Amino acid sequence: MSSIATAGAFKLGDLTVNRLGYGAMQLAGPHVLGPPKDRNAAIAVLREAVKQGVNHIDTSDFYGPHITNQIIREALHPYPEDLVIVTKVGALRGEDGSWQPGASPEGLIRAVHDNLRNLRLERLDVVNFRSMLNEHKPVEGTIAPQIEALAVLKQQGLIRHIGVSHVTPAQVREARWITEIVGVQNLYNLAHRIDDALIDELQEAGIAYVPYFPLGGFSTLQSSILSDVAKAAGATPSQMALAWLLARAPNILLIPGTSSLVHLKENLAVAQLKISKGQFAMLDAIASSRS
Ligand SMILES: NC(=O)c1ccc[n+]([C@@H]2O[C@H](COP(=O)([O-])OP(=O)(O)OC[C@H]3O[C@@H](n4cnc5c(N)ncnc54)[C@H](OP(=O)(O)O)[C@@H]3O)[C@@H](O)[C@H]2O)c1
Repeated sequence: MSSIATAGAFKLGDLTVNRLGYGAMQLAGPHVLGPPKDRNAAIAVLREAVKQGVNHIDTSDFYGPHITNQIIREALHPYPEDLVIVTKVGALRGEDGSWQPGASPEGLIRAVHDNLRNLRLERLDVVNFRSMLNEHKPVEGTIAPQIEALAVLKQQGLIRHIGVSHVTPAQVREARWITEIVGVQNLYNLAHRIDDALIDELQEAGIAYVPYFPLGGFSTLQSSILSDVAKAAGATPSQMALAWLLARAPNILLIPGTSSLVHLKENLAVAQLKISKGQFAMLDAIASSRS
């Protein structure tokens, strides 16, 4: 058993993954555009993650675009048997790097084929539909045509499982009416708790919740409470923020993003970090101290 397995495992459909995973978005160039400064370093991060037992990697063909998936292929293909690569479709990059909706059924089919080609796979393990109804926050609106289009691709054998991202609880329920949904990927961390009730609902249903920006994203979480609790525990603030997420609910899977080997090792070491009830309560209060 790898040491990260001590943080537990959870199922994405019939696929079991360690709760400590890795998000590959930081492997592209600045603003998730173009190649990284150091491609060999990006490859080293991916290989180290897998060496340490990571078997859940989150990516998308719109990172780069294409480049992150191509780096994953170069670093890890042929893939270890137990590696689950989760990708997402629904957005496109403009010439200027802007994020744009790409959610027509034809666009989704094209994106699935791009992912298959760039990752060199016959079938994608999990495809999240990433809503772009509003780029900055999930807003209501039907996502049925997109989920139906992905369900057809699943029937055709190009996708194993379907998930949703950047969605409201109502959209999760709508998607679940149409097909099996194995995971929800939304913005959530110590300071951003809008999905608290949704996480509990998904836990009861046995569905994974995968927070994006677990460390705060492009500007990492800053909180004196977090720093103080981390210092007392002999951990870094980032490690403490991840430990809190692991303790928050058993269906939470972590995909912290990093381009740094040092940060990767720190993030995976969270498997050995025990968080007490008192520490959990202090960290839990950060969100209310901000509202
Ligand atoms: N569905 C969606 O819409 C969506 C949106 C955004 C992201 N995602 C996915 O979620 C994953 C995670 O999100 P994210 O990477 O944007 O944000 P994140 O994990 O919250 O934070 C990444 C940032 O934290 C830094 N960092 C990582 N580990 C650290 C450590 N131990 N100590 C200090 N700093 C550390 C990274 O810089 P260094 O590179 O220097 O370590 C990077 O700047 C992504 O990789 C992507 O797969 C999905």
